[in-house]
Amino acid sequence: MNNNPQKNGQNSRPKQSRLTSYISNGENTREIEYAILAHPIVKWAGGKRGLIEKYKPYLPKDFNKYYEPFFGGGAIFFHLFSIGRVKEAKISDINSELVNMYKVVKTKVDDLVEELKSGKYLNDKDIFYEIRAEEPEEPVLRAARLIYLNRTCFNGLYRVNKQGKFNVPFGKYPKNVKILNEENLRNVNQCLQDVELTSEDFEKSVKDAKEGDFVYFDPPYMPLTETANFTDYTSKGFGIKEQERLAKVFKELDERGCYVMESNSDVPKIAELYEGYEIKKVHARRFISSDPNGRGGVLESLILNY
Ligand SMILES: C[S@@+](CC[C@H](N)C(=O)[O-])C[C@H]1O[C@@H](n2cnc3c(N)ncnc32)[C@H](O)[C@@H]1O
Repeated sequence: MNNNPQKNGQNSRPKQSRLTSYISNGENTREIEYAILAHPIVKWAGGKRGLIEKYKPYLPKDFNKYYEPFFGGGAIFFHLFSIGRVKEAKISDINSELVNMYKVVKTKVDDLVEELKSGKYLNDKDIFYEIRAEEPEEPVLRAARLIYLNRTCFNGLYRVNKQGKFNVPFGKYPKNVKILNEENLRNVNQCLQDVELTSEDFEKSVKDAKEGDFVYFDPPYMPLTETANFTDYTSKGFGIKEQERLAKVFKELDERGCYVMESNSDVPKIAELYEGYEIKKVHARRFISSDPNGRGGVLESLILNY
């Protein structure tokens, strides 16, 4: 047990001054909220970092608690936090390795930084495959491994095989690719101090959301074409049944008086599932096969109940 308060709390700033500060014009002193600038720690498939400017006009100005149950890299949460709009939040993702990493950043950031600075985590092919084969159980080691693999694997993908083992190949980034961004990890640590973190299914995660709360859903998208995936009713992945269950939860939250926003693909099935709601079309720049230079883009749906 470590008795160093800074190490235990792993928080360099006292809690009280984290979100509030005071300004004075000589006559009045007023409490203001200040925000912490933090960015996603991991690159994540479907990450929204590049779409924030397009989403900004549609984000509610004021809300009570923020829920993000398909958290991934959390680009929208970090944006909202950085502009001081998050008062209380619950974030979750079904991927327990990912949620373990956020829990470690929240409670053991010093240990995590120390581990990532240990000299072990180098962008080298042989080292990559050695670390990929490891199966640490200790939470800090699991978090360091996840960050390392995310920074060095092909396209920052997260994919596991049937045995649950991470199987993305080495990514061939420049030798000096930045694996540890200490400043950002410490800023994320500050952001997460009062945030509830869980690894659970989206439906369970939002069951306590109330009137005035804001729920942002960014699920695995409905496929653009009728591939095997699209008709795969039984797969454990996010198939059509899951999309239908999500649409039902969206409606329940709407009826409860929550602000609800969802990103999904621009396909007729989505228009059908969310009939009656406003669906904005957002131009997303994504690689598409007919445009090998990736200059084109696709339209995505942004479904709003407000
Ligand atoms: C499109 S990604 C989210 C991207 C994220 N918004 C970002 O900016 O990085 C979808 C996420 O949903 C998670 N997920 C898949 N099925 C889920 C479920 N049933 N409940 C909760 N999370 C789920 C995946 O683990 C993945 O991280």
